[in-house]
Amino acid sequence: MMTKVKVGIAGCGIVGIGVVDILQKRFEEFRELYQVELELAVVVVRNIDSDRDIAFDKAILTTDLAMLDNVDIVVELIGGDTVAKDVVLNAIHQKKHVVTANKALVAKHWDILFEAVRGSQVMLKFEAAVAGAVPVIKTIQESLIGNKIEELKGIINGTANYILSEMESRGESLALILKEAQDLGYAEADPTFDIEGFDVAHKLCILASLAYGVKVECEDMYIQGITDLEVKDMAYIRELGYRIKLLAIAKKYEKGLDVRVHPALVPESQILGAVSGPYNAIDIKGHASGDILLYGQGAGRYPTAGAVVGDILDIARCLQKEQPLPFFFSERKKAEFIPIEDIENRYYIRLNVSDQPGVLAKITNIFGEHAIGIASVIQKEVVLEDQVPLVVMTGKAREDNMRRSLDEIEALDTVFGSPTLIRIED
Ligand SMILES: NC(=O)c1ccc[n+]([C@@H]2O[C@H](COP(=O)([O-])OP(=O)(O)OC[C@H]3O[C@@H](n4cnc5c(N)ncnc54)[C@H](OP(=O)(O)O)[C@@H]3O)[C@@H](O)[C@H]2O)c1
Repeated sequence: MMTKVKVGIAGCGIVGIGVVDILQKRFEEFRELYQVELELAVVVVRNIDSDRDIAFDKAILTTDLAMLDNVDIVVELIGGDTVAKDVVLNAIHQKKHVVTANKALVAKHWDILFEAVRGSQVMLKFEAAVAGAVPVIKTIQESLIGNKIEELKGIINGTANYILSEMESRGESLALILKEAQDLGYAEADPTFDIEGFDVAHKLCILASLAYGVKVECEDMYIQGITDLEVKDMAYIRELGYRIKLLAIAKKYEKGLDVRVHPALVPESQILGAVSGPYNAIDIKGHASGDILLYGQGAGRYPTAGAVVGDILDIARCLQKEQPLPFFFSERKKAEFIPIEDIENRYYIRLNVSDQPGVLAKITNIFGEHAIGIASVIQKEVVLEDQVPLVVMTGKAREDNMRRSLDEIEALDTVFGSPTLIRIED
């Protein structure tokens, strides 16, 4: 039997236009394949006269958000967490199912949304909120449900990954590449969210909350962006057989959860090390499955819209079955977090040191006093008068030990400027 579902979209910009297009073009196919009739009943925008670069029935276009009261599924594609939050909560309170691509909204207001969803017994789906076309939410919530997720590591910001890839391959500065990315439309006019790691942090809140069933918020994690990275390190890192990536990391230990966002050295021989340009990839390690790698386009009109339409269809097909609705959005328990100071990592350290005998011995002594082993040391050619860059790859060490040792090393009169520290994930 044909199930008829009225869909209302709030926001018809980059993603919204893609959703309208797919719904219109695949209307008949969805009827035939799934016996679902997805009627696009209303599209709400801010400015009705904007050129939308797509042909659709203008009679359904409005600026009146109240028109969403007449649909079954509300698709929120406005962005931000002010109007969007009102649209979503209002829809849920009216017992409408909701699809959103809005990571900031889900990450920041999870508990409020969950309470509303539970009260109204509706579905809230947000596959497109993390990594666009890459079906990571579904993989964690459905495919890997039999696994305990031991860790996940992801490259989940295409803008940052594009900038890092270009810096590496062309040897140009972050400022120059960022300007180019903005001109090409790969980076926002205000790129803060992308390059300071906050966008990744929001996405990691969602992934870690789902993977571990606990409350993970941005305040719980260490967040460091890519703005301090220098192009000269890119060359040294390549020589060592690594690439640098802005990683979202979540690892589960008995004593708590390690969640963080920062640039990290990844071996070029690992698949994550080969993910370049605007692509996203997430490596999820289940206790039974081992490593699973998801890879694809993390943003853009159609990759994101495809994920949104997938969520709409999932809801429509649940409604069709007239069974109790699956609850895709869950309550989160309180978690213990391991502070970054207690985390053990290997490190890439670059120092600018005086080109004279005995300097290296003093530095290795200090590392030794803090229980930090050294895996390799590379001394580069003199670059400035008697100063030489010294690149040290360490063994595993606690972060607080590393920080203390670097404070002591920086205080040496044979060391110039501040040391560069980049964690290694191998
Ligand atoms: N772009 C991507 O590649 C991508 C990828 C993954 C997730 N997302 C998420 O998808 C969502 C939408 O992103 P987008 O890039 O499509 O945004 P966008 O291009 O800026 O579009 C936003 C849309 O919202 C409408 N809007 C803004 N304020 C409104 C209001 N008060 N009432 C009604 N409509 C309003 C705008 O109307 P007007 O057109 O009239 O101005 C516009 O159509 C965001 O949450 C974003 O994080 C985007």
